[in-house]
Amino acid sequence: MTDLETFAKDVHKGLSAPRKHISSKYFYDDTGSGIFQDIMKMPEYYPTPCEFEILSLQGENIIRKLDFNGPFQVIEFGAGDGVKTRQLLKKLVDQRIEFTYVPIDISSKAIDELTANMRAHLPGLKISPMIGNYFSMMEELAGSPAPRLLLFLGGNIGNYEAHEVTGLLTDFRKCMNPGDYLLTGFDLQKNPATIRCAYDDPRGITKAFNINLLHRINRELGGNFKTNQFDFYSHYNPVNGEVRSYLVSLVPQRVHVQYTDKCYDFDRNEVIWTELSRKYTLGEIEEIASANGFRVVEHFLDCKAYFTDSLWTL
Ligand code: AVI
Repeated sequence: MTDLETFAKDVHKGLSAPRKHISSKYFYDDTGSGIFQDIMKMPEYYPTPCEFEILSLQGENIIRKLDFNGPFQVIEFGAGDGVKTRQLLKKLVDQRIEFTYVPIDISSKAIDELTANMRAHLPGLKISPMIGNYFSMMEELAGSPAPRLLLFLGGNIGNYEAHEVTGLLTDFRKCMNPGDYLLTGFDLQKNPATIRCAYDDPRGITKAFNINLLHRINRELGGNFKTNQFDFYSHYNPVNGEVRSYLVSLVPQRVHVQYTDKCYDFDRNEVIWTELSRKYTLGEIEEIASANGFRVVEHFLDCKAYFTDSLWTL
C-alpha cells in the first residue's frame, strides 16, 4: 500500500467511526512540520528550551554513561530541525569520538534543512540521513551488529497510546543489540496551567497546526473541508497526565473526500480527536522501561524538572 493509500484508509476509518479521530502522525507534511517549528519557538511551549538545556548542559554526562569501545551510530527518529541534538553531537565531535549520525524524518524538506545546518555548524560530522517513516526505516536498520545510540527526543513518545508505546519499544529493541542505548525525551507532569498554555496558545499557532490536517486532506485526498467552519479545543487532565486535542465542527456539515468517494457528516459541536500528548511521572517512565525489557541508566532533567531525557540500555 502506498503512503497516500494508507492516509486515505486511516482518514476514512477515523471519520466514519462513532467518535471521529485522525492520528496526529498526519500533522507532519512539509507545511505541518513548518508550523511545528513555529510551535517550538513559542514562549509557552516549554519542552523545547527544557530539552535544549538538558542536551547543552548535561551532554557530557550523557556521553560519559555510554560504554562503547569503538565507532558507533547515533540514530535519531523524527529528527526535525536537529538544533537540540546538535548540542549533544557537538560534544561528541569536540571529543573526537568516532560516530556516524543517522537522522530519520518523514519530511524530506526537514531532512534537507537539517543536513545543511549540521554541515554548516559541525563540519567534522559524519552524517548519513534517511527519509521515511520510522517503521519502514526500522526494518532496514534491524539485524545490524553496529553499536548504536538511538535517539527519540522531543517528547514524541507522549503522542503514542499505551499499546502503541509497547509496539514502538519492541521495534526499537529490534534495531538494538545488548550494550546499545536508547535516549528518550519524556515531558513530565507539572503545574497543569503551564501545560494548558503550551497546548492552547493565544496566537493560534497550535490551532493552525491542527487545522492543517484538514488542509492536508483537501490537498492530498481532494477533500472539501471548509476549514473556517472548524475550531480547535485542547484539554489537559492532570489526573491521568493526558493532553487531548480536538477539531470542533462549528455547524452541521457534510464533507466529501474524492479519493475515498465518501461523504462524512458532522453535527454542530461534534469533535475529531487529533492528538494525545501524554505527560509522565518518573515512576511511570521506570515502569514502561522495565515492562519493555529495558534498564534505566539515568534520567537527565532540566533545572525546573519539567522534562527528562532518559537513558536506557538493553
Ligand atoms: C511532537 N510532539 C511531541 C508535540 C507535543 O508536544 O505533543 C506535538 C505538539 N502538539 C501540539 N504542540 C506540539
